[in-house]
Amino acid sequence: MALREILTVPNPVLKQASKPVETVDDELRALMDDMLETMYAAPGIGLAAIQVGVPKRVIVMDLARPEEDKQPRYFVNPEILWRSDDTAPYEEGCLSVPEYYDEVERPARVKLRYLNYQGEQVEEDAEGLFAVCIQHEMDHLDGVLFIDHLSRLKREQAIKKVKKQAKAA
Ligand code: NI
Repeated sequence: MALREILTVPNPVLKQASKPVETVDDELRALMDDMLETMYAAPGIGLAAIQVGVPKRVIVMDLARPEEDKQPRYFVNPEILWRSDDTAPYEEGCLSVPEYYDEVERPARVKLRYLNYQGEQVEEDAEGLFAVCIQHEMDHLDGVLFIDHLSRLKREQAIKKVKKQAKAA
């Protein structure tokens, strides 16, 4: 396994739409292993492949609390089959927009279909933090960042903040 570099705004690669995966093979599993290690090291709770510069529809996630055992999860070619009409706000952050947090309103519950680490098809309901995180990560697969859900002014402020930090680093 190896750590990959996480791209940050305003890197144009983050605006790219990712392509579906054809087969879940060892090469893809190696990418998912690297992504998970990179996410844990950041640290973060979710990461899409495009955030490490790979335009494939792949997401890794771990929503376990620090005191709990790790619960890595892998989503290949995820699709949302259903969204609830009721929405919920959540203060989101993103490893590609470091140190910036803001509230985004999304459907409170969704029904998902995806391929897991073994390439098996899974259907699952998501609510709470899981629903927030999977919708945030799936946005990445279409080149959408959480700050794209905010006002233009807030988005510009967020990007400015990240650029400033990058310069200082
Ligand atoms: Ni993100």
